[in-house]
Amino acid sequence: DWNMGQVLEEQLQKIAEQVGPEEHAICALSGGVDSTVAATLVHKVLGDRLHCVFVDNGLLRLNEQQRVMDTFNNHLHLPVTCVDHSKVMLARLAGVSDPEAKRKAIGAEFIEVFKNYANELEAKLGKKPKFLVQGTLYPDVIESCPPPGSGQKHSHTIKSHHNVGGLPKDLQFTLIEPFRELFKDEVRAVGRLLGVPEQFIKRHPFPGPGLAVRVLGDVTDGNKLDTLREVDEIFVNTIREYGLYDDIWQAFAVFLPVKAVGVQGDQRTHSHVVALRAVTSADGMTADWYSFTPAFLRDVSNRICNKVRSVNRVVYDITSKPPGTIEWE
Ligand code: XMP
Repeated sequence: DWNMGQVLEEQLQKIAEQVGPEEHAICALSGGVDSTVAATLVHKVLGDRLHCVFVDNGLLRLNEQQRVMDTFNNHLHLPVTCVDHSKVMLARLAGVSDPEAKRKAIGAEFIEVFKNYANELEAKLGKKPKFLVQGTLYPDVIESCPPPGSGQKHSHTIKSHHNVGGLPKDLQFTLIEPFRELFKDEVRAVGRLLGVPEQFIKRHPFPGPGLAVRVLGDVTDGNKLDTLREVDEIFVNTIREYGLYDDIWQAFAVFLPVKAVGVQGDQRTHSHVVALRAVTSADGMTADWYSFTPAFLRDVSNRICNKVRSVNRVVYDITSKPPGTIEWE
């Protein structure tokens, strides 16, 4: 891709100028496309002066920490430090049920982790990393905080993306955001140019606040997160089995704060309802729900109700964006 080749060259040069020959940077990896490509790009310029960190925020999908660390070690050869911040994060989220409050709290905890990590690096290196690399995309910027007078359709915050709206004013890092003006398919093209393996490039997007925006209301009460992990895993694995993963922009399950009556094995049950969401999209700004076949929907619903004890009802979200957003919170 000629255009993306040019963007890539410009970004490499810009980062070299911005950081100079001596300073260090940290980069938070989520395992997703944006941060992986951002880290690979910045690593080309900074080499050992880039320090990547993967935060287990307690809001990851099933076995995700292990999967992400394995792929970084085995395929990307980027050294990554894993920080387990799950206990602190979940404690902070206890009792928080407003969607924006959750997002803000999560953003603040991420910043805490970065600060602590920077302090540890300072002790080791004798100097503190000045820069923070983020894979922020153009749509994240628009939906979090449209530039005033920009004539953007959205005149106010739709959602505070954890990496844009959630940052404190007194952030002690200078941001490196090479993709602030790009859409996801463009970042994917840059990633391919950089030789990032297809398995990363094709990964469905996963939001920084993780499962917190897919468990409606208080995330911490009960086994909601574990239930959601089980359902999500079955849904996504079934999609892969049917060969549909690459046709879909994003697919996931949502834990609803609702119980319904059912009958399972001749017994009355009063259990949880989960929603499945799958959408097609070009850039995440607008989206359509995906038309599964009835056979697929029947199969996945049976699998979920048979395997996940605490779920007795599965619904499929047939809302496009707009009026819905992709995530439920
Ligand atoms: P919405 O729900 O706003 O999502 O229609 C659009 C796309 O953005 C992802 N998303 C996020 N990504 N941090 C991220 O890195 C966030 O805070 C965040 N919120 C939403 C969402 O998964 C979808 O792909």
